[in-house]
Amino acid sequence: MGTRRALARRLGVVQDFQDPTASLEQYATSAEVAASLVHVADERGDFADANVLDLGAGTGMLALAAALRGPRRVIGVDVDPAPLRTARENASRVGATAEVEWVVGDATDLPLDVSDVVVLSNPPFGAQDGNEHADRAFLDQIAAVASVSYTVHNAGSREFVESYVADAGGEVTDAFAVELDVDNQFEFHDADRAVVDAEAYRIDWST
Ligand SMILES: C[S@@+](CC[C@H](N)C(=O)[O-])C[C@H]1O[C@@H](n2cnc3c(N)ncnc32)[C@H](O)[C@@H]1O
Repeated sequence: MGTRRALARRLGVVQDFQDPTASLEQYATSAEVAASLVHVADERGDFADANVLDLGAGTGMLALAAALRGPRRVIGVDVDPAPLRTARENASRVGATAEVEWVVGDATDLPLDVSDVVVLSNPPFGAQDGNEHADRAFLDQIAAVASVSYTVHNAGSREFVESYVADAGGEVTDAFAVELDVDNQFEFHDADRAVVDAEAYRIDWST
C-alpha cells in the first residue's frame, strides 16, 4: 500500500473538465481529496478483489485513484461522453494497470448488471435550480448495487445521510471532512476560486 501523499502526486496529472456543464455540476475532485478517500478505502481493505464503480466519473479522478490500488476491475459511468474521453486519456497519463472501462449512461438508472460493487461517487449535490436532491437519486442507485460506498456530500448533511441510508438498509461507518476546490468556471461564480466544505461518508450496505 503506497502513501496517501504518493497517490495524490501520481494523480496530479489528471486533466480537469475541458468545457464543464453547470447543470451537471461538473467540478473535478482534487487529487488530494481523491487520495484521502481512496486511502481510507484501501486501509479498510475494501479494494481487495473488488469491482469498483465510479458514479458520475467525470474525467476519472476517483476511478483512477481506485485503479491504482489494485482492485479487480473499475468502471466509470457518466451521463456526458465528453469528460469520459478525457478520462480515457487520464488513464494513460496515470499509468493505470487495473482494467478500467468508461460507460456513458445515467448513474441513477444504471445500464449495467452489477452487484456487490464498491462505489465511489462525488455526485451532483443538487445545488442548481430544478436539480435539488440530486445526490439522493445517486444514493438510491448505490443502495441497489453496492456492498460498500464512498460518497461526497454538502457539509452539514450527516444527519440526513445517516437517516436516509438507514432507511435504505445501509449504515454510515466513517465520516470525514473534505475541502473541494472550485475554480471560477461558470458565469455565476464571482470569486476566482472557492473552497467548499464537504463531507465524505463510507457506507456499509452489507448489513
Ligand atoms: C461533481 S462532478 C464529479 C466528477 C468526478 N467524479 C470527480 O470526482 O472529479 C459530478 C459528475 O456527475 C456527472 N453526472 C451528473 N448527473 C449524472 C447522472 N444522472 N448520471 C451520470 N453522471 C452524472 C457529471 O457529468 C459530473 O461529471
